[in-house]
Amino acid sequence: MYSTLLSLHSTVAYAALGVLTLAVINAFLGLTSKSLFKSKDRSISLVALMVCHIQLAIGLILYFVTPKLEAWSTLGMKVMADSTLRTVLVEHPFTNILALVCITIGWSKHKKEESNNGKFKKIALFYAIGLVLLLAMIPYKQWLA
Ligand code: HEM
Ligand code: HEM
Repeated sequence: MYSTLLSLHSTVAYAALGVLTLAVINAFLGLTSKSLFKSKDRSISLVALMVCHIQLAIGLILYFVTPKLEAWSTLGMKVMADSTLRTVLVEHPFTNILALVCITIGWSKHKKEESNNGKFKKIALFYAIGLVLLLAMIPYKQWLA
């Protein structure tokens, strides 16, 4: 269960970061070229939202099955003194949930916008903040090891 979820989470991560990056670039291009917000723009933003939500769901389950969770009972607050444990048990989950809230707000706000420019603006801004937050807290060392 744990190893399946971990490999799923580390594989879906490429898709989530990849499609989110594409959605951000697409929104900025649409914004600067003053294009119409077409169905392809909606699709790329929606696929990015969905893949990120799937990753969120996997991450939430992973949190409760990872053997690293036991560190909370053995070490208590000393978890914070270990940089690997602090990243995986605190900083990564907390920041990524925040990033997902941001991305989801961007999606909801774009729906309420009437203008093409307004739609691109909401996606560009909120998805970009989400992407930066995600990239800031990936446990790169163990991911790419
Ligand atoms: C822990 C799991 C999840 C949580 C907490 C969550 C939460 C949310 C929230 C709060 C919204 C915003 C609704 C709105 O105001 O428009 C949303 C929208 C959405 N979620 Fe998730 N979600 C989760 C998992 C998933 C999964 C697994 C998928 C599968 C693809 C998914 C697909 C979507 C889609 C497509 C929307 C947009 C719906 C629309 O535009 O109305 N979510 N989700
Ligand atoms: C789009 C959002 C996310 C991305 C891109 C992402 C990406 C990653 C990556 C690349 C790893 C390293 C995997 C490896 O070592 O092979 C990881 C580990 C982990 N993630 Fe996420 N993650 C996201 C969201 C979340 C969320 C929301 C949670 C929990 C609430 C979470 C919980 C975890 C945990 C607990 C681990 C470490 C598991 C272990 O080492 O035993 N992730 N994540």
